[in-house]
Amino acid sequence: MEFTHQLSGYVARVEHGIDRLLPADGTRPSRLHSAMRYSLQAGGKRLRPVLLLAAAELFPAAAGGPDPLPAAVALECIHTYSLIHDDLPCMDNDDLRRGRPTAHKAFDEATALLAGDALLTHAFLLLASSYDPVPGLSLVRELASAAGSQHLIGGQMEDILAEKKPETTAAELEYIHLNKTAAMIEAALVMGGLVARADAQALLILRQAGRQLGLAFQIIDDILDATADTAALGKTAGKDAKAGKATFVKIHGLETARRLAGKASQDAIAEFRKLPGGAPFLVELAAEMAARTH
Ligand code: IPE
Ligand code: IPE
Ligand code: MG
Ligand code: MG
Ligand code: MG
Repeated sequence: MEFTHQLSGYVARVEHGIDRLLPADGTRPSRLHSAMRYSLQAGGKRLRPVLLLAAAELFPAAAGGPDPLPAAVALECIHTYSLIHDDLPCMDNDDLRRGRPTAHKAFDEATALLAGDALLTHAFLLLASSYDPVPGLSLVRELASAAGSQHLIGGQMEDILAEKKPETTAAELEYIHLNKTAAMIEAALVMGGLVARADAQALLILRQAGRQLGLAFQIIDDILDATADTAALGKTAGKDAKAGKATFVKIHGLETARRLAGKASQDAIAEFRKLPGGAPFLVELAAEMAARTH
């Protein structure tokens, strides 16, 4: 109960932050701002911003330090932009996201592309206008790195290229998952630590935990695509096999994929336990994510 209560508290803070920190509805050009809010305020688990807020609270300096909320909203802006672009016809060509028509279906492709671009840029505006150079610069560096060509975008590039390859190796697949998904989850935890002035040792633990949690998260996303239904997911199930995507289910089979997701989750939990106070909320969140159904 304690966990559920804490989680809903964090999610409520994130929802409020999103509403407050996005350009107001009706601001010109209103079509663009409507599209940004349409995708961002469609729900979603808010995993990344919740991780950031929870990580920040582990460190005593957080109490007198800057508010981690703008950084949490910045992360969710980047994540949502990545989903809008991921769903475009030239990428995964999806019609449903967060239980609603995708942005390019509800608006049009040009508007979806621009809403994604604007969310990406807005994330850095939020960081630059909410934080002093310390910790602001390190937050910008962390987020830009995670969202850039050697991580999120690099992973997305290899994900698309793998559709056309006759074979993807286990190592290539791990590269895709660590970069398209785990990098942003790693950044969420590290950015929480940066806002709260965590020391280098704690930042390293957060990074390692995020890498394993993110790997587990994407393996489970692959498993759910193959096993869950569209209504539960809020996005079209069964699309990975049809598109010829390289997934853990395709390369390793369902049973091994489940085992590897379990191992990565356990590894993340073992890292979380090394943090101040044993980080019980993060431990439970990792366990919840391992058992998730959407
Ligand atoms: C979907 O992310 C894309 C992946 C990286 C698997 P989420 O499963 O976190 O999607 P939302 O934010 O809850 O909609
Ligand atoms: C998405 O991976 C990763 C990013 C958006 C960066 P997927 O393509 O598997 O995500 P879903 O299944 O569409 O949410
Ligand atoms: Mg994709
Ligand atoms: Mg997709
Ligand atoms: Mg998927």
